Amino acid sequence: MRLGLPALVAFFVLPAAAQPDPATAKANALLAQLTLEEKIGQISQFFAFPGMPIDDAVKTGRVGSLLFVTDPKEINRLQDLAAQSRLRIPLIFGFDVIHGFRTIFPVPLGMAASWDPALVEGAQAIAAKEARAVGIHWSFAPMVDIARDPRWGRIVEGAGEDPYLGAAIARAQVKGFQGDHIGADHVLACVKHFAGYGAAEGGRDYDASNIADTQLWNVHLPPFRAAVQAGVGSVMSAYMDLNDVPATGNRWLMHDVLRQSWGFKGFVVSDADAVKSLVPHGFARDGADAALRALHAGINMEMTFGPGDYAKTLASSVEAGRVSVGQIDDAVRPILEAKVRLGLFDTAKVDEARAARVLAAPEHRVAARVAAERSAVLLRNEGSLLPLRPTAHTKLAVIGPLADAPYDQLGSWAFLGDGAETVTVLAGIRAKLGAQGAVEFAQGVQIRRTTPSIFDILKRYKDPEPWSEAQAAEELAKAVAAARRADVAVLVLGELQYMSGEQASRSSLDLPGRQQELLEAVVATGTPVVLVLVNGRPLNIAWASRHVPAILEAWFPGTQGGAAVASLLFGEANPGGKLPITWPKHVGQVPIYYSHNLTQKHEDQAKRYWDDPSEPLYAFGHGLSYAKFAVSALALNRSELAQGAMSRGQQIEISVDVENTGTVAGDEVVQLYVHQRAGSASRPIRELKGFERVSLAPREKKTVRFALGADELRYWSGALRRFVLEPETFDVWVGTDSKASLHGSFKLVPD
Ligand code: GLC
Repeated sequence: MRLGLPALVAFFVLPAAAQPDPATAKANALLAQLTLEEKIGQISQFFAFPGMPIDDAVKTGRVGSLLFVTDPKEINRLQDLAAQSRLRIPLIFGFDVIHGFRTIFPVPLGMAASWDPALVEGAQAIAAKEARAVGIHWSFAPMVDIARDPRWGRIVEGAGEDPYLGAAIARAQVKGFQGDHIGADHVLACVKHFAGYGAAEGGRDYDASNIADTQLWNVHLPPFRAAVQAGVGSVMSAYMDLNDVPATGNRWLMHDVLRQSWGFKGFVVSDADAVKSLVPHGFARDGADAALRALHAGINMEMTFGPGDYAKTLASSVEAGRVSVGQIDDAVRPILEAKVRLGLFDTAKVDEARAARVLAAPEHRVAARVAAERSAVLLRNEGSLLPLRPTAHTKLAVIGPLADAPYDQLGSWAFLGDGAETVTVLAGIRAKLGAQGAVEFAQGVQIRRTTPSIFDILKRYKDPEPWSEAQAAEELAKAVAAARRADVAVLVLGELQYMSGEQASRSSLDLPGRQQELLEAVVATGTPVVLVLVNGRPLNIAWASRHVPAILEAWFPGTQGGAAVASLLFGEANPGGKLPITWPKHVGQVPIYYSHNLTQKHEDQAKRYWDDPSEPLYAFGHGLSYAKFAVSALALNRSELAQGAMSRGQQIEISVDVENTGTVAGDEVVQLYVHQRAGSASRPIRELKGFERVSLAPREKKTVRFALGADELRYWSGALRRFVLEPETFDVWVGTDSKASLHGSFKLVPD
């Protein structure tokens, strides 16, 4: 029997297209067997701190996910318990693998400062491998909240102020965690906190975010959309009110934007107890109402300390007809699909011996050192004090509370980081100088967080006893004396681990404690000073910027941070990082960011206060090198392009030459900024729309190419209330920071 083409197509193609995804098929088959209580178990996630009674819930299938279990033996034990439940559905274990698991990388704000998405991807791939080795399948990262207020403690966890850089870093993190497909060494990623958490009023953590639609669509949402386009498997809802509607009860966010507009197919987990908090938000009447509102909004899984509103109230809400079993099924399905795709039904347990080997892999530490080197930003280097020369700088004083701080230099969300494996700045410098007596250490001052941190219970070290007044005076004097005896004083100042991160917002940006006093006393000795910052946010270093010749921003540099800082100080590595955040002179300027709108008087940009110029201390994209670079020969492939042609995929191609005119090899980040001169709505003075980090030998020149298309030029118009690509004139600038001045322009013309 001859089958015509249509029949062949019908026979071979349609059935394949009609066959449901195996993960969906398995999920549906399980849903058909699960009881209502077991379904509600799958959408419940409990914190499993030691001693919390969870065994019974696991054995009876009343919980489907646990977080904060990191010991492979305990994870295996709990998976064995899950295997005793009626349908033997494995647990999915989640954890905050934010910037490393056991090998700690620089904090995310530091990683973003590398402007190196490939580096970020590689780091998260290592973090995923270490986490998966112990049996963790799901990382609550990338955190992509755009932040423009350094008072906000969690600015450390994101990629800074810019949506274009933020989107690139988000894509890289998802790729690093999940790979092209989630294999045995990958974990499910979870983009968070959806959405607008970084705009908390006053930088006060958890405070309300009031964000205009234009800012939502053009600034805060793009990194989330990028993560969804990169295939992120899960999303975490935010704590705070977004324009008076709590994110975790916000159906516009979780359904209209995330699923309807962006086609997200994974699942949404609430932030910790964020469903319960719908009641104190003044949004839900009680726990049952909170559960219904969150489920209706599109929160698949409730993260909670112990049985939450989903576990306690949904069954009775189904019986009362306030929610259907179908709605519960829709919440459960993507969670079961994720468990299938992670391979948990094949192998849920891990090999503990292998886990130990993976966590101790030396190549992970090498990667962490390279990441710390590439994340550092050289803010100032007057008189080329840096790089230090062991021949001229034979006696160093290493001073400050962050110089020998093996846990604090790891930054927040580094619970498994082992202080014994940390290379501190002091250790890194001592390893470089070698000769005994070449390096003298003095802590100088003691800094302490004056209020408790929610993470104090998880700290693996005891806070030192507070110094007496007499001891403090003595220690300060010792530091000054050490500086006097030295050729160079390396001052390592900044923040302790939990002075930054969650519930670590500040009303000031000043150096905590008496560090400024220490800084000025050491500078007063006349010994040349290098300031190294270990911190998670821009700090008030305005005085230092005028009195200290060399300033290196190392961020919280992680496990290998000290080795990286030493390599950078002695020139074995050349700083190439750039600021992912505008650096204010002081807190009075906040919020401050480069892509602001023009005021009515362009020339007054720097004079927006009568009492102080409104220029920041350091610009977004700023960063120096030991090399020198020149950017030239900006060229566009055309000066005009029809709007329709661009909508159909044609682009403006831009090229520029960058040359290393210095005497040492180094990296430069070539940055492209764009401004639409007029339109249905005002547009920012300039916006980042391309960047490339290039490595060049002395005298080497390279042509860097960018392309501007509809994706780069389209924006959400506050006038038309939709995305538009408008036939206007556009300026382009290319340079090495957001003050880029090499200029060109082009026109988009009506069809
Ligand atoms: C925290 C954080 C969130 C984290 C979660 C689990 O409150 O807001 O970022 O992933 O709880 O630790």
